[in-house]
Amino acid sequence: MPTQALPGFRDFYPEQLALRAYIFSTWRRVASRYGFEEFDGPPLESLELFTAKSGEEIMAQLYAFEDKGGRRVALRPEMTPTLARMVAARATALKKPVRWFAISQLFRYERQQRGRLREHFQFNCDVLGEPGPVGDAEIIALALDAVRAFGLTAHDVQARVSDRRVLEVLLQGGGVPADQLAVAYQAVDKLERAGPDKIRGMLDDQGMTGSAIETVLRTASLSGWEAVEDALSSVPGGQTAGAPLRQAVDALQAMGLGTYVDVDLSIVRGLDYYTGIVFELFDVGRRFRAICGGGRYDDLLNSVGGNDLPALGFGMGDVVLSEILKDRGLVPDVPAAVDVFLTGATEGDLPHMLHLAHELRERGCRVEYSFRMTGLGKQLGLAHARGAKYAIVIGPDDRARGEVMLKRLADGTQQPVPIDGVADALVALVPSPAALSASVAAPGS
Ligand code: HAM
Repeated sequence: MPTQALPGFRDFYPEQLALRAYIFSTWRRVASRYGFEEFDGPPLESLELFTAKSGEEIMAQLYAFEDKGGRRVALRPEMTPTLARMVAARATALKKPVRWFAISQLFRYERQQRGRLREHFQFNCDVLGEPGPVGDAEIIALALDAVRAFGLTAHDVQARVSDRRVLEVLLQGGGVPADQLAVAYQAVDKLERAGPDKIRGMLDDQGMTGSAIETVLRTASLSGWEAVEDALSSVPGGQTAGAPLRQAVDALQAMGLGTYVDVDLSIVRGLDYYTGIVFELFDVGRRFRAICGGGRYDDLLNSVGGNDLPALGFGMGDVVLSEILKDRGLVPDVPAAVDVFLTGATEGDLPHMLHLAHELRERGCRVEYSFRMTGLGKQLGLAHARGAKYAIVIGPDDRARGEVMLKRLADGTQQPVPIDGVADALVALVPSPAALSASVAAPGS
């Protein structure tokens, strides 16, 4: 039997699970600050939900098969089609704008590379029913706050923001025909990784003219609002197409997040369903893959359920984020699992340990006790290894006096405490469960 997980799949040993739990609790905290409600859907969906809209790249990576009932099904490679399906099913009943988030495991048969696995967890936040640029800014701000909450700053992470409406007028204004726009978007999406020569060849193979190819490359190289505004001023419809991007960037500025935002037309996103603003979050040195990507997809709900509902959102993966947190030294220590460790000297002490352990657990303390009455040193060694702050040493002589020994493990100091009062003493000493979860959520606290 293999002892390794499948390639691209992860085992989460407690240490790795602690980081995952920390990431999830931080994401949930930020989403709730924005008034988002959590939802989830099934990990297995009908294949056609994804073939309809996800785009070529994701289609090639699907885990798809026929189930025992003869249905064509797929493990979800992204959350957006499921969200669109669920909202479409209740579109009239839901209060708009819908503000939902999910933390879900997704599956893509990716080529093995750093930052890309065959399963990952993704934090999705989406707003449905809001067409305007303030909604765009809200979603980008939420994505930024979701990384800022881990201690990352504008020196670590930037949002690169673009808009397909802007790309469309600039490309068409520069001679790219409407029926080659999809090919042009694919080229822009691959440009950074493939380089201009490969992209010229790819577009040439698709039958694009030389001047249209140069338009694609020139447009993708525009960065900074001034350069984009300048280019827009020379194409028909440029000003109208640029207005939402401008307003979204202004709104982010008003929120105080301006230093995190770069207008960058090399961002277009690989998924087919985007119709407006698109963005990705990257580390500043660009040593890692994208942390997060998203945008506006105003037609998807229509094609899934026949509802005319504008929508936008993002997905943020746990893989690249974890790599960056490790790189920046922002991973908190694994929290101890136990507050109090109970030790006993003789078999006769065991019932007293069990009684006290259960009472302490009832009162919210995290307790472990020694299953075997081995030497005290060995039992205390386990207490230290578990990260317990206190040990209770129960022995026949102390018990005869109605006492147990309360030991502070950090410095070894100890004092006798009446058996009847030891639970009260410990409950007062150890942090409450609520305080504990808050400390897990805040590194360095
Ligand atoms: P996406 O760009 O495919 O977008 O994925 C979003 C993020 O998920 C990426 O930036 C990356 O951090 C992470 N990710 C994607 N694939 C992998 C992988 N194989 N291994 C590790 N991490 C990965 C979407 O999925 C859209 N549905 C997002 C969205 C939501 N757009 C609107 N709403």
